[in-house]
Amino acid sequence: GRHALVTSGPTIEPIDPVRFIANRSSGKQGHAIAAELASRGARVTLVSGPVTLPSPPAVELVEVETARQMLEACEAALPAEIAVCAAAVADWHVKDAGTAKLKKQDGGPPPPIELAENPDILRRLSSHEARPDLVVGFAAETGNLRENAAAKLTRKGCDWILANDVAPDTGTFGGDDNEICLISGADETADECWERQSKTGVARALSARIIKHFS
Ligand code: CTP
Repeated sequence: GRHALVTSGPTIEPIDPVRFIANRSSGKQGHAIAAELASRGARVTLVSGPVTLPSPPAVELVEVETARQMLEACEAALPAEIAVCAAAVADWHVKDAGTAKLKKQDGGPPPPIELAENPDILRRLSSHEARPDLVVGFAAETGNLRENAAAKLTRKGCDWILANDVAPDTGTFGGDDNEICLISGADETADECWERQSKTGVARALSARIIKHFS
């Protein structure tokens, strides 16, 4: 019966009406978490960027494209007791993305693309006046996993960070498996590292941990 807000998938940021900047997120991990929390009885709002996955059963799906839309949808979904930010939110959007298609100039230089920073949804939720009781983020890293993840926990003000290695040789980004360490503070001995398993398995382990937290 608790309300859980889950973000999933990539965000896509328009360059012009026909082109965009995106990333390799499949949404598999976020969707699996939403499905698992719903199956355990939570009321789930899943805010997702464009993915090819079907909506999990029994969740309220809010489809968005950009990071700014994702933030708006998340804030509109509050209050919630639980927030899990699994989306791979684009860090930047294209400043002044035009409404007309950019055209090649014969022999001319490629158009410059100026970027502007996107809102950090995890950070905003962590400091929101209607902050969920438990805010969980991910740290997708290609190196210095523990150090970068612990820094993210502090910087973003969330309660847990699920650290995962997304180096290309792990196949994690877009793949079916994930290897996670749950980090809840500076004390490394308190880290909870789970064996490499399917993203569904990770979702199950996280849901069990959330239930334990609330009981
Ligand atoms: N996140 C978010 N909004 C953003 C960027 C990230 O909500 N604009 C969330 C992600 O959903 C994830 C966590 O923050 O839960 C960390 O995302 P990650 O991509 O690992 O880190 P960044 O904040 O983008 O930092 P960096 O690019 O420096 O690694």
